[in-house]
Amino acid sequence: MTTTSPTTASPSWRDGLELSLDELRARQLARLQDSVRRAWEHVPHYRRALDAAGVHPDEIRDLADLARLPFTSKDDLRANYPFGMFAVPREQVVRVHASSGTTGKPTVVGYTQDDLGTWADVMARSIHAAGGRPGDVVHVAYGYGLFTGGLGAHYGAERLGCTVVPVSGGMTERQVQLIVDFQPRVIMVTPSYFLSILDEMERQGVDPKGTSLRVGIFGAEPWTESMRREVEERTAMDAVDIYGLSEVMGPGVAQEAAATKDGLHVWEDHFYPEVVDPLTGEVLPDGERGEIVFTSLTKQAMPVLRYRTRDLTRLLPGTAYPAFRRMEKVTGRTDDLMIVRGVNVFPTQVEELVLAEEGLAPYFQCVLTRPGRLDELTVLVETLEPVGDDARAAVAGRLSGRVKERIGTSVTVEVRDPGGIERSVGKARRIVDQRPRG
Ligand code: DLL
Repeated sequence: MTTTSPTTASPSWRDGLELSLDELRARQLARLQDSVRRAWEHVPHYRRALDAAGVHPDEIRDLADLARLPFTSKDDLRANYPFGMFAVPREQVVRVHASSGTTGKPTVVGYTQDDLGTWADVMARSIHAAGGRPGDVVHVAYGYGLFTGGLGAHYGAERLGCTVVPVSGGMTERQVQLIVDFQPRVIMVTPSYFLSILDEMERQGVDPKGTSLRVGIFGAEPWTESMRREVEERTAMDAVDIYGLSEVMGPGVAQEAAATKDGLHVWEDHFYPEVVDPLTGEVLPDGERGEIVFTSLTKQAMPVLRYRTRDLTRLLPGTAYPAFRRMEKVTGRTDDLMIVRGVNVFPTQVEELVLAEEGLAPYFQCVLTRPGRLDELTVLVETLEPVGDDARAAVAGRLSGRVKERIGTSVTVEVRDPGGIERSVGKARRIVDQRPRG
């Protein structure tokens, strides 16, 4: 008789990681066929959409057949608010999350017990790829609640075998105290809120380099290589990127490996990525930039077919995990695109330039107004130390010059005193849209 010793059995989160490319593609196809069938059988929205597109689940014979399926958008989720996209009876849904978005009704997502297991597995993989190890203390400062960040990180860290400190966002003074006292090796938090935690450490006289923190798993909002440099210079940490969205699962859809820091490996055995032209919806070859679209391959409670994320990136070959393609760092969303005097601008481009400017804090906001017929952009920044009017004017002149030179548009720069820009404990609000509606 053979028994499997629990200590030598491979943990569930490793399952799939060792697949060859051919094995991965075969697994994806089988899972895609199953997902399309379940969506068609159990979700009236998908029955209608697939019938209208003239596709029957039996006709999915190849991964390329995915392109025949209709897209799913946030509006489809809203139209089926709250539970209309569920593919299982509500009683089998053991958890819901919701994302508020900027306007209208929230979108609701649901998970079965097995879905929570899958989510914990992909998050455990992500934390491991980021450099976290069983036995580590993990400080979770993503918000707990309807937002998927806190609970997603929490279950994944437990699954990996870590000691989780479920702090959630806010009460920044206490965040610092808990970091000093509990000595976490890993912190999971939005990059913008981590900057506030760093400032608070310095305010309390705690040297960020002297803390126990070695790994920062930052996501839920766009952040740049300049921000990575800033964080790694101020701390003794590896700063890596984590990506995900509620509609597809939550955090843990894709993860950057600490070993390579070269973009995020998509956990493709669970989430199938495509990049499409955001205007025409046409599928683009790997390597070309466009909007990333995901199809869930294993979700039970709420399968999603070709979900339009609005996130802009491109797919690249795997490195740290060779069978899994990478997505380049997300630099913007189609709806974060600001068109200023005909020039396309994303907040991340502004971030790069703000961080390059000596004497400025790494906080900024883009305020859009429309005084006449054209949009105008004011970039709000703040200085590290209080400065006089001349120094303020000099910084404003330099930064607006750089924006003109590098991005190609004229902006007004408003330089504020330290603390003059709104802080967030979760996702930072980078764009303040003051244009008249309609
Ligand atoms: O933000 C899930 C998450 C939590 C991811 C914690 C990572 C860490 P939502 O609130 O549904 O879910 O927002 C999803 O956030 O479509 C992107 O626009 C943005 N986003 C998430 N991660 C990244 C990232 C969570 N690493 C939306 N880089 C997505 C850039 C990101 N944008």
